[in-house]
Amino acid sequence: MSQARIESMMDEKRLFEPPMEGRNSARVTSMEEYEALYRRSMDDNEGFWAERANELVEWFTPFTKVLDADMETPSIKWFVGGQLNVAYNCLDKHIANGRRNKAAIIWQGEPDEDVKVYTYQMLYDEVCKFANVLKAQGVHKGDRVALYMPMIPELAIAMLACVRIGAVHSIVFAGFSAVSLQNRIQDCEAKVVVTSDAVIRAGRSIPLKKNVDEALRLCPSVHKVVVVNRANAAVEWQEGRDLWWHELMKAPDLKASCPCEPMDSEDPLFILYTSGSTGKPKGVVHTTGGYLTYAAHTTQWVFDVKDSDVYWCTADVGWITGHSYIVYGPLALGATSLMFEGVPSYPGPDRFWQVVEKFRVNIFYTAPTVIRALMREGAEWTQKHDLSSLRVLGSVGEPINPEAWMWYHENIGGGKLPIVDTWWQTETGGIMISALPYATPLKPGSATRPLPGVDARIVRPDGTDAEPNEGGHLVIRRPWPGMLRGVFGDPARYKSTYFERFPGCYEAGDGARVDSDGYFWIMGRLDDVINVSGHRMGTAEIESALVSHPAVAEAAVVGMPHAIKGEAIYAYVTLNADADETEELRAELRTWVRKEIGPIASPEVLQFADGLPKTRSGKIMRRILRKIAGGSTSTSDFGDTSTLADPGVISDLIEGKMDLTGR
Ligand code: WTA
Repeated sequence: MSQARIESMMDEKRLFEPPMEGRNSARVTSMEEYEALYRRSMDDNEGFWAERANELVEWFTPFTKVLDADMETPSIKWFVGGQLNVAYNCLDKHIANGRRNKAAIIWQGEPDEDVKVYTYQMLYDEVCKFANVLKAQGVHKGDRVALYMPMIPELAIAMLACVRIGAVHSIVFAGFSAVSLQNRIQDCEAKVVVTSDAVIRAGRSIPLKKNVDEALRLCPSVHKVVVVNRANAAVEWQEGRDLWWHELMKAPDLKASCPCEPMDSEDPLFILYTSGSTGKPKGVVHTTGGYLTYAAHTTQWVFDVKDSDVYWCTADVGWITGHSYIVYGPLALGATSLMFEGVPSYPGPDRFWQVVEKFRVNIFYTAPTVIRALMREGAEWTQKHDLSSLRVLGSVGEPINPEAWMWYHENIGGGKLPIVDTWWQTETGGIMISALPYATPLKPGSATRPLPGVDARIVRPDGTDAEPNEGGHLVIRRPWPGMLRGVFGDPARYKSTYFERFPGCYEAGDGARVDSDGYFWIMGRLDDVINVSGHRMGTAEIESALVSHPAVAEAAVVGMPHAIKGEAIYAYVTLNADADETEELRAELRTWVRKEIGPIASPEVLQFADGLPKTRSGKIMRRILRKIAGGSTSTSDFGDTSTLADPGVISDLIEGKMDLTGR
């Protein structure tokens, strides 16, 4: 994050008290109550979680031990001996409890007239049918199924169908390229892929199945592809492998009931790939009992969801936010979750507010990048719609800068609604640090306090506790039920990435400080991960995509501050001697990265460089590259450069940047 942004947050002194209206019926109604809950959760950690797990989850077999964990090994087991099924908890339980006619999912497609509402009963029927389809295609408990789909109801149906039969889903965001999809399928050896013909986005139809066809050339594990017809787009068809969703689902003998596979608490539930600082993306593994408890618990407390609420999380289900806060958390509570296919800017920049008005949305959860983009369009777009149904606002994905926070608070929250700024990660399974909407006084830009049960601390590089206001590494000192249980197929990486540097702790990879009121201020990643519009991108991944192009000798990628995306990708590229630094090649390299990884990874700026700043031992000094990308021009900005092999490289790079961007 830029220095200016960190400083503007350091200066932030405003405090916003939680609203009185709605407080009486809230779950947690004051800071005193929060403090008491927090103390209890630390003093009797297992008792606290056992209560939550029993209240929120229906167990086929009760657990006999709450926690069996050792953070150093690491070996983490929650709710040991318990058996359950997540689909049962998201569907069957509510049907039995009188909610069968309640809307589980309200789906708003991109065209405004495309709306589908699934009651819990209807969703149950579809899930059971698709579970039977998967079984008929040879999917068994423990098998992996890759889901590469747009934001259509079939995605949620496929997820729940997998977990109903004990299959493990691995969702690949539909914005990823064929190559990225291929890597993920190869890593988890999926048997079946579910996809759609195309994605509808901002009025256009973008082919999707084509990427699957390309990816599967090198994926021998996959024997069937199920295709949803979303856009009537032309597709190539491989007889014997490809099957239409709608044909499978109307087979005359297909049953709308399917028994739930009883799963052990620690059986894997899903894999979700996320970028790390080195190498290829990691397959983060979440398990059944702990994840479900944690998703339901955090949805209930952080958003204060009521039975009558319409709850809308604008994330894509392809990211962890969509897993936990569109599908599993809300459905485990029997809530009504709005699933939205479109984008914030189409057909106009009031699309979100029009949807809020249309469905009288009560709880709205989005990302700072969306707020900043809509803020730029002007407040008049928000005034065209009645937003009075809203009660709680949320933010996730990156630090929300105070300016965006204030705009959100005033224009969407009418100057009175609480904003829960939720810090968490793919690995944490659910929200870790956040305000409780009717209890916590808010400071714009701070995620406020750790949730009860979460032992978050800031430590120095040597592992000792940081003082108030001293920046350091954010770690979690006790296990929590939603934490990852592994990196698929790579236990060594699981340990070294998260548990090695600070023994006994989970290392988040973020920098943060805690102020004298105990409020957490997240300062951004400490590793080589860039957060572009709330999406994690590994610099190493982008670099290896660039160097796989025949013209490229070397590449170094860093983040640069960006007014809307938070951070953007800045790539320095050294070409092979026989390649020329032309605009065509620059464009080609950006397209190349789109193809290798996906549009979100395409560099914002791509600078050709004759040399990169390296130490005498050959290590690239990214610190310097970040400074140059951020606009530094004065030698005094670069700190210690005495270890540079060739100090002249800095002025060349600065000149090159000025030629390119004029700054
Ligand atoms: C960042 C998304 C500040 C952080 C749920 C983290 C945040 C990474 C916040 C995880 C927030 C997420 N304030 N930073 N409220 N929320 N982050 O795995 O750097 O896609 O490590 O999970 O996003 O991104 P991921």
